[in-house]
Amino acid sequence: MNPFTYRQGILYAEDLPLAGIAGRFSTPCYVYSRAALTAAYEAYRSALAGRSAHICYAVKANSNLAILNLFARLGAGFDIVSGGELARVLAAGGRAADVVFSGVGKTREELRAALTAAIGCFNVESESELIRLSGIAEQMGVTAPIALRVNPDVDAKTHPYISTGLKNNKFGIAIEDALPLYRRARMMPGIAIKGIACHIGSQLLDPAPAAEAALRVLALADRLAAEGIDLADLDLGGGMGIRYHDEEVPGTAEYLAPMLDLLKDRRERLVFAPGRSLVGSAGLLLTRVEVVKHGAEKSFAIVDAAMNDLMRPALYDAWHDILPVRRDGGSERLYEVVGPVCESGDFLGHGRSLAIAEGDLLAVMSAGAYGMAMSSNYNSRPRAAEVLVDGGQAHLIRDRESVAQLYELERIVPL
Ligand code: LLP
Repeated sequence: MNPFTYRQGILYAEDLPLAGIAGRFSTPCYVYSRAALTAAYEAYRSALAGRSAHICYAVKANSNLAILNLFARLGAGFDIVSGGELARVLAAGGRAADVVFSGVGKTREELRAALTAAIGCFNVESESELIRLSGIAEQMGVTAPIALRVNPDVDAKTHPYISTGLKNNKFGIAIEDALPLYRRARMMPGIAIKGIACHIGSQLLDPAPAAEAALRVLALADRLAAEGIDLADLDLGGGMGIRYHDEEVPGTAEYLAPMLDLLKDRRERLVFAPGRSLVGSAGLLLTRVEVVKHGAEKSFAIVDAAMNDLMRPALYDAWHDILPVRRDGGSERLYEVVGPVCESGDFLGHGRSLAIAEGDLLAVMSAGAYGMAMSSNYNSRPRAAEVLVDGGQAHLIRDRESVAQLYELERIVPL
């Protein structure tokens, strides 16, 4: 479902005109739709209906407490990658037992915190992590439920920065090394083997690589079973892509179908860890045009959002549609839509055809995932406000930061 639609030339978020949201909360401002978040979750749930399955939202995509709370109430578990994300999940009302902990460099403190909380599974990414975890669990007198995150060496055919399942990536344990490590894990006092995990990359549009990875995971599960190591869970990660521009995007059921077909006779519970596909299309970044500048070769729309608010264009050369909040049929020209940050890489879109004037509002679309979550304070810019729209109501779910907050942890020292 698309929660952001035009009515008589005015862009709405559900039943609210975005101009009203900008008036109330100012800009830049992230705006999310409750209905779209819910629909994205329900699409997974219905694609997985009739199976033993668990949807663990990948918190890194958007970790706002209100969003975590919404997913917790819908029944989701959570895929976390830090102690900070664990704290957020617990603060948002998520259940520790529904948490899986991924990540290549978990610290001792993080392992301890997760054991104390009694999370559902540690997705272990190296031999040393396994040994470390077993030791800490033993000291604490508990056992750590684990899956080994295997690297199936499948090319996910996505941007190299967000591809994680190839041999040369830092992620996971090479699939051929997994069997001996499971044998060792079985003997470790602090460890209880729970499953296998794998995640091959993000913004995947073709279901075939994920199905290929699932096939390799299944082959390993069968070899383990032959040695008497039975698994409760198969965690197939996240990665399903969304439409940013003109990509052909399969629906959730269509994307999962080849994988589910391979898994149809399995007893194990299936775990999925989607991030982007649950929140990406449910959010936009609302920004105001501060300055219009016609240069010798290019025209610039300098807006009040920047690379510190939405880093994806600068970092991956990613495309986000940029829509006028009011379409008035004026004559369009090509603009570089850029922020005020002092970097030439600070752009939100190149060569966009827009009819705009200073003071107009623009919506940077598909910004619900890896938008606010990757924002920074570069150039001492307070982070944007976040608003969750529910029908005709807008709720502020994160205040705009104040400038004073930016340096409240800093100290001038007597030198
Ligand atoms: N599970 C693990 C272990 C992951 O590393 C990730 C994402 C996910 C699940 C969720 O993947 P998703 O369903 O969102 O594709 N900042 C980048 C994306 C980085 C993804 C990192 N890992 C971007 O803005 O495109």
